[in-house]
Amino acid sequence: MDDILQCIHHGGIAVDDMEAGRALYRDTLGLKPGLHRLMMERGVEVQFFDLPGARIELLAPRGESSSIAKFLADRGPGLHHICYEVNDIHAALATLTGRGLRAIDTEPRDGAEGNLVAFLHPRSAGGVLIELQQK
Ligand code: CO
Repeated sequence: MDDILQCIHHGGIAVDDMEAGRALYRDTLGLKPGLHRLMMERGVEVQFFDLPGARIELLAPRGESSSIAKFLADRGPGLHHICYEVNDIHAALATLTGRGLRAIDTEPRDGAEGNLVAFLHPRSAGGVLIELQQK
């Protein structure tokens, strides 16, 4: 055991319909809506919901070349990724890939919230897409 992963930052959930997803998480589950972003260059619309100590990130497809659209077509709506917070994303990426996880992003990039993020391939991680986010 070591201290690379600090805490779960958010769970990412793929939805077909952002309005229906919002209604479920805001009105039925009673969560507080947080950051909303349209990232057309990535083909995704993002809506965060804030809880004490963690968040939920809804992801809906936008436009043609959307990894979320591909995910929905392959697997349907549901859990898309788990995001862990790390202190140093470059060090975390190097250590975890050194232990056999496969990086989707070999270099960290800007995430929806403006922090550096990197994704690790689900096929190397027990079927779950892993996002690392630097504090
Ligand atoms: Co995420």
